[in-house]
Amino acid sequence: MRPSHPPLPTPSFAGQDILSVSQFDRTKLDYIFGVAHEMRVLVERFGGADLLQGKILANLFYEPSTRTSSSFMAAMMRLGGQVIPINNVQYSSVSKGESLPDTIRTLESYADVIVLRHPEVGAAATAARYAAKPVINAGDGVGEHPTQALLDLFTIVEELGQADGLTITMVGDLKYGRTVHSLTKLLVNYNVTFRFVSPEILRMPDDVLDVVRGTGHTYDEVESLPDAIAASDVLYVTRIQRERFTDLAVYDRVKDLYVVDEELLTQAKEQMIVMHPLPRVGEISYGVDDDPRAAYFRQMRNGMYIRMALLASVLGRA
Ligand code: ASP
Ligand code: CP
Repeated sequence: MRPSHPPLPTPSFAGQDILSVSQFDRTKLDYIFGVAHEMRVLVERFGGADLLQGKILANLFYEPSTRTSSSFMAAMMRLGGQVIPINNVQYSSVSKGESLPDTIRTLESYADVIVLRHPEVGAAATAARYAAKPVINAGDGVGEHPTQALLDLFTIVEELGQADGLTITMVGDLKYGRTVHSLTKLLVNYNVTFRFVSPEILRMPDDVLDVVRGTGHTYDEVESLPDAIAASDVLYVTRIQRERFTDLAVYDRVKDLYVVDEELLTQAKEQMIVMHPLPRVGEISYGVDDDPRAAYFRQMRNGMYIRMALLASVLGRA
Protein backbone atom coordinates (compact mmCIF):
# COMPACT_ATOMS: atom_id res chain seq x y z
CA MET A 1 0.00 0.00 0.00
CA ARG A 2 1.24 3.46 -0.79
CA PRO A 3 2.25 5.38 2.38
CA SER A 4 -0.15 8.21 2.98
CA HIS A 5 1.28 11.65 3.63
CA PRO A 6 -0.69 14.34 5.39
CA PRO A 7 -1.81 16.94 2.82
CA LEU A 8 0.45 19.99 2.60
CA PRO A 9 -1.13 23.03 4.23
CA THR A 10 -2.60 25.48 1.73
CA PRO A 11 -0.60 28.72 1.81
CA SER A 12 -2.57 31.63 3.23
CA PHE A 13 -2.05 35.23 2.23
CA ALA A 14 -4.97 36.57 4.26
CA GLY A 15 -4.11 39.96 5.74
CA GLN A 16 -0.59 39.95 4.24
CA ASP A 17 1.23 42.68 2.35
CA ILE A 18 2.68 41.87 -1.07
CA LEU A 19 5.91 43.89 -1.14
CA SER A 20 8.59 41.74 -2.77
CA VAL A 21 8.97 38.58 -4.81
CA SER A 22 11.19 37.23 -2.03
CA GLN A 23 7.93 36.39 -0.19
CA PHE A 24 7.19 33.64 -2.73
CA ASP A 25 8.46 30.07 -2.95
CA ARG A 26 7.32 27.40 -5.39
CA THR A 27 4.44 26.23 -3.19
CA LYS A 28 3.07 29.75 -2.90
CA LEU A 29 3.57 30.37 -6.60
CA ASP A 30 1.69 27.20 -7.52
CA TYR A 31 -1.12 28.30 -5.26
CA ILE A 32 -1.42 31.82 -6.71
CA PHE A 33 -1.17 30.48 -10.27
CA GLY A 34 -3.90 27.93 -9.50
CA VAL A 35 -6.19 30.70 -8.23
CA ALA A 36 -5.31 32.90 -11.23
CA HIS A 37 -6.24 30.04 -13.51
CA GLU A 38 -9.64 29.73 -11.79
CA MET A 39 -10.10 33.49 -12.17
CA ARG A 40 -9.52 33.19 -15.90
CA VAL A 41 -12.21 30.50 -16.13
CA LEU A 42 -14.60 32.63 -14.05
CA VAL A 43 -14.05 35.68 -16.25
CA GLU A 44 -14.38 33.72 -19.48
CA ARG A 45 -17.59 31.98 -18.36
CA PHE A 46 -19.35 34.58 -16.23
CA GLY A 47 -17.37 37.84 -16.47
CA GLY A 48 -16.46 37.50 -12.78
CA ALA A 49 -17.92 36.58 -9.38
CA ASP A 50 -19.02 38.33 -6.20
CA LEU A 51 -16.18 37.08 -3.98
CA LEU A 52 -15.16 40.57 -2.87
CA GLN A 53 -18.60 42.14 -2.54
CA GLY A 54 -18.49 44.76 0.23
CA LYS A 55 -14.71 45.21 -0.07
CA ILE A 56 -12.99 48.41 -1.19
CA LEU A 57 -9.60 48.88 -2.86
CA ALA A 58 -7.68 52.16 -2.61
CA ASN A 59 -5.62 52.41 -5.81
CA LEU A 60 -2.91 54.99 -5.09
CA PHE A 61 -0.53 55.87 -7.94
CA TYR A 62 2.25 58.48 -7.56
CA GLU A 63 3.71 57.45 -10.96
CA PRO A 64 1.97 57.02 -14.33
CA SER A 65 0.36 53.68 -15.13
CA THR A 66 -2.08 52.22 -17.61
CA ARG A 67 -1.95 48.44 -17.11
CA THR A 68 -1.21 48.02 -13.41
CA SER A 69 -3.70 50.65 -12.35
CA SER A 70 -6.54 49.61 -14.63
CA SER A 71 -6.02 45.87 -14.19
CA PHE A 72 -6.18 46.20 -10.40
CA MET A 73 -9.38 48.21 -10.81
CA ALA A 74 -10.83 45.69 -13.26
CA ALA A 75 -9.78 42.83 -10.97
CA MET A 76 -11.58 44.37 -7.99
CA MET A 77 -14.70 45.18 -10.02
CA ARG A 78 -14.87 41.73 -11.63
CA LEU A 79 -14.88 40.25 -8.12
CA GLY A 80 -17.77 42.47 -7.01
CA GLY A 81 -15.67 44.95 -5.02
CA GLN A 82 -15.32 48.69 -5.40
CA VAL A 83 -12.41 51.06 -5.96
CA ILE A 84 -11.22 54.45 -4.72
CA PRO A 85 -9.01 55.49 -7.66
CA ILE A 86 -6.24 58.01 -6.90
CA ASN A 87 -4.45 57.78 -10.20
CA ASN A 88 -3.33 61.34 -10.23
CA VAL A 89 -1.94 62.36 -6.85
CA GLN A 90 -1.66 65.90 -8.16
CA TYR A 91 -5.38 66.28 -7.40
CA SER A 92 -5.10 64.74 -3.93
CA SER A 93 -3.79 66.32 -0.72
CA VAL A 94 -0.36 64.98 -1.64
CA SER A 95 -0.04 68.22 -3.64
CA LYS A 96 -0.60 70.15 -0.38
CA GLY A 97 2.40 68.38 1.10
CA GLU A 98 0.70 65.47 2.86
CA SER A 99 3.17 62.70 3.72
CA LEU A 100 2.97 59.10 2.53
CA PRO A 101 2.25 57.78 6.07
CA ASP A 102 -0.65 60.21 6.56
CA THR A 103 -2.01 59.44 3.10
CA ILE A 104 -1.89 55.73 3.88
CA ARG A 105 -3.53 56.21 7.31
CA THR A 106 -6.32 58.14 5.59
CA LEU A 107 -6.96 55.57 2.87
CA GLU A 108 -6.89 52.60 5.18
CA SER A 109 -9.65 54.13 7.24
CA TYR A 110 -11.90 53.87 4.17
CA ALA A 111 -10.59 50.85 2.29
CA ASP A 112 -9.78 47.16 2.93
CA VAL A 113 -6.64 46.94 0.78
CA ILE A 114 -4.21 49.50 -0.67
CA VAL A 115 -2.32 49.23 -3.97
CA LEU A 116 0.60 51.67 -4.13
CA ARG A 117 2.93 52.79 -6.93
CA HIS A 118 5.58 55.27 -5.84
CA PRO A 119 8.88 56.61 -7.25
CA GLU A 120 10.95 55.73 -4.15
CA VAL A 121 12.50 52.34 -3.48
CA GLY A 122 11.00 50.95 -0.28
CA ALA A 123 7.90 53.17 -0.34
CA ALA A 124 5.50 50.20 -0.25
CA ALA A 125 7.35 48.77 2.76
CA THR A 126 7.09 52.15 4.48
CA ALA A 127 3.36 52.29 3.70
CA ALA A 128 2.91 48.78 5.07
CA ARG A 129 4.41 49.84 8.41
CA TYR A 130 1.66 52.42 8.81
CA ALA A 131 -1.25 50.30 7.57
CA ALA A 132 -2.98 47.46 9.36
CA LYS A 133 -4.69 46.62 6.04
CA PRO A 134 -2.76 44.79 3.28
CA VAL A 135 -0.54 46.93 1.06
CA ILE A 136 0.36 45.69 -2.43
CA ASN A 137 3.48 47.08 -4.12
CA ALA A 138 2.60 48.18 -7.66
CA GLY A 139 6.16 49.37 -8.33
CA ASP A 140 8.56 51.22 -5.99
CA GLY A 141 10.92 53.29 -8.11
CA VAL A 142 13.75 51.19 -9.51
CA GLY A 143 13.17 48.60 -6.77
CA GLU A 144 10.56 45.95 -7.41
CA HIS A 145 7.32 45.30 -9.28
CA PRO A 146 6.27 42.00 -7.69
CA THR A 147 2.79 41.68 -9.19
CA GLN A 148 4.31 42.18 -12.65
CA ALA A 149 6.85 39.41 -11.98
CA LEU A 150 4.04 37.09 -10.90
CA LEU A 151 2.10 37.73 -14.10
CA ASP A 152 5.31 37.36 -16.12
CA LEU A 153 6.10 33.97 -14.62
CA PHE A 154 2.46 32.90 -14.93
CA THR A 155 2.69 33.80 -18.62
CA ILE A 156 5.90 31.80 -19.10
CA VAL A 157 4.29 28.73 -17.52
CA GLU A 158 1.03 29.16 -19.47
CA GLU A 159 2.87 29.62 -22.78
CA LEU A 160 5.72 27.12 -22.45
CA GLY A 161 4.39 24.59 -19.94
CA GLN A 162 7.01 25.13 -17.24
CA ALA A 163 9.91 27.38 -16.30
CA ASP A 164 12.45 24.66 -15.48
CA GLY A 165 15.06 24.13 -18.17
CA LEU A 166 14.50 27.43 -19.98
CA THR A 167 17.00 30.03 -21.10
CA ILE A 168 15.61 33.45 -20.24
CA THR A 169 17.10 36.45 -22.06
CA MET A 170 16.39 39.92 -20.69
CA VAL A 171 17.30 42.90 -22.84
CA GLY A 172 17.36 46.67 -22.48
CA ASP A 173 17.32 48.75 -19.32
CA LEU A 174 18.37 46.17 -16.76
CA LYS A 175 19.69 48.82 -14.38
CA TYR A 176 16.51 50.82 -13.83
CA GLY A 177 13.94 48.20 -14.87
CA ARG A 178 12.13 47.07 -11.73
CA THR A 179 10.28 44.40 -13.70
CA VAL A 180 13.51 42.58 -14.59
CA HIS A 181 14.80 42.93 -11.02
CA SER A 182 11.69 41.23 -9.65
CA LEU A 183 11.39 38.64 -12.42
CA THR A 184 15.03 37.55 -12.03
CA LYS A 185 14.63 37.18 -8.26
CA LEU A 186 11.47 35.16 -8.78
CA LEU A 187 12.93 32.90 -11.47
CA VAL A 188 15.74 31.71 -9.18
CA ASN A 189 13.08 29.41 -7.70
CA TYR A 190 13.44 27.42 -10.96
CA ASN A 191 16.20 25.72 -12.86
CA VAL A 192 16.74 28.41 -15.49
CA THR A 193 19.73 29.95 -17.29
CA PHE A 194 19.90 33.73 -17.56
CA ARG A 195 21.26 35.93 -20.34
CA PHE A 196 21.42 39.64 -19.64
CA VAL A 197 21.75 41.89 -22.70
CA SER A 198 22.46 45.57 -22.12
CA PRO A 199 25.06 48.29 -22.64
CA GLU A 200 27.63 48.50 -19.84
CA ILE A 201 25.89 51.50 -18.22
CA LEU A 202 22.54 49.67 -17.96
CA ARG A 203 23.81 46.35 -16.54
CA MET A 204 21.78 44.34 -14.08
CA PRO A 205 22.55 45.68 -10.57
CA ASP A 206 24.93 43.72 -8.36
CA ASP A 207 22.36 42.98 -5.66
CA VAL A 208 20.25 41.13 -8.25
CA LEU A 209 23.30 39.32 -9.70
CA ASP A 210 24.22 38.32 -6.12
CA VAL A 211 20.86 36.55 -5.81
CA VAL A 212 21.47 34.75 -9.13
CA ARG A 213 24.96 33.66 -8.08
CA GLY A 214 23.94 32.87 -4.52
CA THR A 215 21.31 30.42 -5.71
CA GLY A 216 23.80 28.63 -7.97
CA HIS A 217 22.35 29.84 -11.29
CA THR A 218 24.46 30.51 -14.34
CA TYR A 219 24.19 33.71 -16.33
CA ASP A 220 26.06 35.65 -18.93
CA GLU A 221 26.12 39.32 -19.75
CA VAL A 222 26.48 40.46 -23.36
CA GLU A 223 25.91 43.63 -25.33
CA SER A 224 24.79 42.11 -28.62
CA LEU A 225 21.21 40.90 -28.93
CA PRO A 226 21.68 38.91 -32.19
CA ASP A 227 24.39 36.88 -30.38
CA ALA A 228 21.98 35.98 -27.59
CA ILE A 229 18.77 35.24 -29.42
CA ALA A 230 19.27 31.78 -30.93
CA ALA A 231 19.56 29.97 -27.58
CA SER A 232 16.68 31.82 -25.91
CA ASP A 233 13.32 30.33 -24.92
CA VAL A 234 12.03 33.63 -23.55
CA LEU A 235 13.05 37.04 -24.86
CA TYR A 236 12.00 39.60 -22.24
CA VAL A 237 12.30 43.07 -23.78
CA THR A 238 12.26 46.27 -21.72
CA ARG A 239 11.91 49.97 -22.41
CA ILE A 240 14.92 52.25 -21.85
CA GLN A 241 13.39 54.37 -19.08
CA ARG A 242 13.94 58.00 -19.96
CA GLU A 243 12.43 59.20 -16.69
CA ARG A 244 15.15 57.48 -14.63
CA PHE A 245 18.12 59.21 -16.33
CA THR A 246 19.66 62.29 -14.74
CA ASP A 247 21.65 63.03 -17.91
CA LEU A 248 19.43 62.93 -21.01
CA ALA A 249 22.49 62.96 -23.30
CA VAL A 250 23.29 59.51 -21.91
CA TYR A 251 19.71 58.40 -22.54
CA ASP A 252 19.98 59.58 -26.16
CA ARG A 253 23.10 57.46 -26.63
CA VAL A 254 21.41 54.22 -25.54
CA LYS A 255 17.73 54.65 -26.33
CA ASP A 256 17.74 52.99 -29.74
CA LEU A 257 20.31 50.27 -29.12
CA TYR A 258 17.90 47.32 -29.24
CA VAL A 259 15.02 46.81 -31.63
CA VAL A 260 13.27 43.47 -31.93
CA ASP A 261 11.92 43.17 -35.45
CA GLU A 262 10.77 40.44 -37.84
CA GLU A 263 14.27 39.99 -39.23
CA LEU A 264 15.79 39.38 -35.79
CA LEU A 265 13.10 36.80 -35.05
CA THR A 266 14.22 34.71 -38.04
CA GLN A 267 17.18 33.72 -35.83
CA ALA A 268 14.96 32.72 -32.87
CA LYS A 269 13.53 29.32 -31.95
CA GLU A 270 10.07 28.48 -33.32
CA GLN A 271 8.77 28.11 -29.77
CA MET A 272 10.47 31.17 -28.26
CA ILE A 273 8.15 33.79 -26.77
CA VAL A 274 8.66 37.55 -26.85
CA MET A 275 7.55 39.29 -23.67
CA HIS A 276 7.47 42.95 -22.62
CA PRO A 277 5.94 44.52 -19.50
CA LEU A 278 4.84 47.44 -21.71
CA PRO A 279 4.60 50.29 -22.54
CA ARG A 280 6.91 49.91 -25.55
CA VAL A 281 8.44 52.95 -27.19
CA GLY A 282 10.08 51.50 -30.27
CA GLU A 283 12.00 48.47 -28.94
CA ILE A 284 9.57 45.98 -30.50
CA SER A 285 8.47 46.85 -34.01
CA TYR A 286 4.74 46.65 -34.71
CA GLY A 287 5.40 44.06 -37.41
CA VAL A 288 6.23 41.55 -34.65
CA ASP A 289 2.69 41.77 -33.21
CA ASP A 290 1.30 39.27 -35.72
CA ASP A 291 3.98 36.66 -34.98
CA PRO A 292 2.49 33.91 -32.78
CA ARG A 293 5.61 34.21 -30.61
CA ALA A 294 4.59 37.74 -29.59
CA ALA A 295 3.20 37.03 -26.11
CA TYR A 296 3.08 40.57 -24.70
CA PHE A 297 -0.62 41.20 -25.18
CA ARG A 298 -1.52 37.82 -23.67
CA GLN A 299 0.93 38.64 -20.86
CA MET A 300 -0.85 41.94 -20.23
CA ARG A 301 -4.23 40.23 -19.97
CA ASN A 302 -2.81 37.69 -17.53
CA GLY A 303 -2.13 40.64 -15.22
CA MET A 304 -5.82 40.93 -14.46
CA TYR A 305 -6.14 37.25 -13.48
CA ILE A 306 -3.05 37.41 -11.25
CA ARG A 307 -4.33 40.59 -9.58
CA MET A 308 -7.77 39.02 -9.06
CA ALA A 309 -5.99 36.08 -7.38
CA LEU A 310 -3.88 38.38 -5.20
CA LEU A 311 -6.79 40.56 -4.10
CA ALA A 312 -8.95 37.54 -3.27
CA SER A 313 -6.03 35.97 -1.38
CA VAL A 314 -4.98 38.93 0.76
CA LEU A 315 -8.64 39.62 1.55
CA GLY A 316 -9.04 36.05 2.77
CA ARG A 317 -11.51 34.96 0.07
CA ALA A 318 -9.31 32.49 -1.83
N1 ASP B 1 5.33 49.39 -16.77
C1 ASP B 1 6.55 48.86 -16.23
C2 ASP B 1 6.89 49.56 -14.93
O1 ASP B 1 6.12 50.38 -14.48
C3 ASP B 1 7.67 48.91 -17.21
C4 ASP B 1 7.93 50.27 -17.82
O2 ASP B 1 7.33 51.27 -17.42
O3 ASP B 1 8.75 50.32 -18.72
O4 ASP B 1 7.89 49.23 -14.34
N1 CP C 1 3.62 46.89 -16.95
C1 CP C 1 3.26 48.01 -16.29
O1 CP C 1 3.52 48.18 -15.07
O2 CP C 1 2.51 48.88 -17.02
P1 CP C 1 1.99 50.30 -16.51
O3 CP C 1 3.21 51.11 -16.17
O4 CP C 1 1.18 50.84 -17.63
O5 CP C 1 1.18 50.04 -15.26
